[in-house]
Amino acid sequence: PEEPLIDKFGRHHSYLRISLSERCNLRCLYCMPEDGVPLQPAENLLSNDEIMTLATWFNQQGVDKIRLTGGEPLLRKNLVELITDLNKLKLKQIGMTTNGVTLSKQLPDLVEAGLTHVNISLDSLDADKFARLTRRPPSYHTRVMDAIKDCAKYLPNQTKINCVVMPDNVNELQDFCELSRDLPVDIRFIEFMPFNDNEWGSKQFVSYKQMQEQIVGLEREEDGPNDTTKWWRLQPNENHEKKSLGRIGFITSMSEHFCGTCNRLRLTADGQLKVCLFGETEVSLRDLMRQGGSNEMLQKVIHYSVQRKNFKLGGHKDMEDLRAHSAENRPMILIGG
Ligand code: GTP
Ligand code: 5AD
Ligand code: SF4
Repeated sequence: PEEPLIDKFGRHHSYLRISLSERCNLRCLYCMPEDGVPLQPAENLLSNDEIMTLATWFNQQGVDKIRLTGGEPLLRKNLVELITDLNKLKLKQIGMTTNGVTLSKQLPDLVEAGLTHVNISLDSLDADKFARLTRRPPSYHTRVMDAIKDCAKYLPNQTKINCVVMPDNVNELQDFCELSRDLPVDIRFIEFMPFNDNEWGSKQFVSYKQMQEQIVGLEREEDGPNDTTKWWRLQPNENHEKKSLGRIGFITSMSEHFCGTCNRLRLTADGQLKVCLFGETEVSLRDLMRQGGSNEMLQKVIHYSVQRKNFKLGGHKDMEDLRAHSAENRPMILIGG
């Protein structure tokens, strides 16, 4: 039976983020420790069939946007088959957030299968800096840049670059913006957030306000109703007759949270429902399914969890409070953003 996923603050949850893998081919400083995280045996992770059972259920309850995340979602076997199956549901968007390293080769098949939006993480335009931040070879940088250009072709204006801003890359923001001049790709600057196993601290943190001080020539655009992003665009200037093809966005989770319009739920690769990125509370939909729980049971458990969702920041007061409790949450690699 259909019952929209509305929490006690009236927020309608229509966006499900599904993590497909706990593994990654990069080792970004802000996401996981150098040695990676202990991996669970494959049978602990949801199968494609289990993901489809849950996605179908969520779709019936009004979820019309799904984003595939990781770890790195492209490391998942049978990804094209999964997207093909998801595409049979009534969804407005099937997105993926990826590091882009192995994207170019798979992109045409993924788009053909039904992928509609791609977000690519990239924190530096300099190959050596990229290598330091990702603890992987500089040659990967070329592959990510190529993937961005391919996405601009296959998914124009449905591709975003995600750049987590840190003191190390804050001097590159204007150059990042200029990419959007001629490529129909949005550039988003993200405030660094604290999670387990990352070294968040006020010295690492660059605020929305500080980011803006680095960039000239922006004009404000309208935001969508559930956007995580405050949108801007490069204005014309003496060298450019037109506005930028892509937009410039800021994700201000820490300095100006956007929890009031949150419409997001998360499913981890091991099948836990997470009603908030910053909330420690999880419930295992995998175990429920594997123990033969009925659809009614699933419905009850999920609605109960949504009802208990905190208004903001997973129930934490502010940035400092969030940091103080970050060890109780998962590391980012095991959440998927
Ligand atoms: P679009 O669907 O393209 O708007 O993407 P998105 O922002 O929903 O997802 P993406 O995976 O590209 O995430 C970009 C950044 O936003 C990451 O740093 C995420 O951790 C962060 N983000 C995504 N959803 C939430 C959220 O619900 N709360 C907070 N605080 N941050 C979020
Ligand atoms: N703070 C902010 N953003 C992060 N991401 C990963 N870890 C963090 C963090 N600690 C971003 C990645 C990716 C998205 C899923 O989340 O860059 O684009
Ligand atoms: Fe939603 Fe939690 Fe993110 Fe706030 S922190 S926007 S409530 S998921």
